Amino acid sequence: MNYENYIQRCFDLARLGVSNVAPNPMVGAVLVYEDRIIGEGWHQKHGEAHAEVNAVNSVSPADRHLIEKSTLFVSLEPCNIFGKTPPCTDLILRHKIRKVVISCLDQTPEVSGRGVELLRKAGVDVITGILQEKGEALTNIRHTFVSKKRPYILLKFAQSKDGYMGRDGQQIWISNAFSKRIAHRLRSQLSAILVGTNTALTDNPRLDTRHWFGRSPLRIVIDRERKVPDTHFLMDGSQKTWVITEDATQPENCPPNLHFIRMKFDENLHGQLLARLFDEKITSLLVEGGAATLQSFIDIGLWDEAVIFTGNKMLGEGIEAPKISGTVTEEYPVAGDVLTIVKNTSNSR
Ligand SMILES: NC(=O)c1ccc[n+]([C@@H]2O[C@H](COP(=O)([O-])OP(=O)(O)OC[C@H]3O[C@@H](n4cnc5c(N)ncnc54)[C@H](OP(=O)(O)O)[C@@H]3O)[C@@H](O)[C@H]2O)c1
Ligand SMILES: [Zn+2]
Repeated sequence: MNYENYIQRCFDLARLGVSNVAPNPMVGAVLVYEDRIIGEGWHQKHGEAHAEVNAVNSVSPADRHLIEKSTLFVSLEPCNIFGKTPPCTDLILRHKIRKVVISCLDQTPEVSGRGVELLRKAGVDVITGILQEKGEALTNIRHTFVSKKRPYILLKFAQSKDGYMGRDGQQIWISNAFSKRIAHRLRSQLSAILVGTNTALTDNPRLDTRHWFGRSPLRIVIDRERKVPDTHFLMDGSQKTWVITEDATQPENCPPNLHFIRMKFDENLHGQLLARLFDEKITSLLVEGGAATLQSFIDIGLWDEAVIFTGNKMLGEGIEAPKISGTVTEEYPVAGDVLTIVKNTSNSR
């Protein structure tokens, strides 16, 4: 039996939950009897059944007697705790499944290693570490959240061929329509999206996912002195929005999902914002610009990944793109643009 193929299938299933499972991780599971998949499932929505439950439930009546003779493959260690649903370790024992193959351990402190231990003590043959790096990459948002107690921070920006992000006070399109779709897909996959004051003023962004599908993230704008006018899209109440400010007085007729949140700008603003996001169980943050806001995260090492679109145009002058150094993990063309993914390998915060 090729363990890697079945674990890969778990990853593919897991990804189907991408926009809907936060703050939980994406997880996929398959049940295999003599090299035949008899059941498969994934965690589809936060608060609903885990992947293992869906895999067991998907087995046809004709095959149900095979469950206890099958091997369960899961992309992540099965949970052993009561969250919004009962522990998956109970389900495995109740169905007398004797072999479980896992990609990586769950780093949630109450689970980590204990799910495996519980199963082994009950006599289940548990194999771990199959395609472990890929499994960890799939759960990096959740793992960053539980281990660093802050959201996973993804920086995203477009730069011209000569390294500029835009021009002062002027909105300029640098990347092409395909890159824009990829950017909107990213928005649908992360839980919150942040911009600085100048970007909010100059670009009047909507920060929604209109060029993709799936839910739109929480919008956050840093606006110390409340410069962004009520007439800008960010203030329209169409999506939940936080305005991070020093003056949190609610305006008259304020839409119910527009929140003015007071923070102390001279006292570690990033720390205050990330702590607030952690408290609200927001597991991922997309920082979209502009240059000053992105650079402020880079300078203090508070980022995990950067997605950079380099367009085909030269701007000659303008606002310089942030300076970032990390490990390039992927680089590929997008219809004339180049997409580069950089990981922060020295991130210790
Ligand atoms: N190419 C792209 O991908 C892209 C993406 C986004 C934006 N842009 C372009 O970038 C330009 C704007 O960039 P920018 O660098 O000028 O500005 P920005 O990052 O959008 O905004 C910077 C301002 O936000 C506030 N701010 C942000 N972080 C803060 C912090 N930690 N503490 C206190 N205040 C903070 C400050 O406003 P105050 O000083 O007013 O308090 C700061 O001056 C626009 O032209 C836009 O078109 C390009
Ligand atoms: Zn579970």
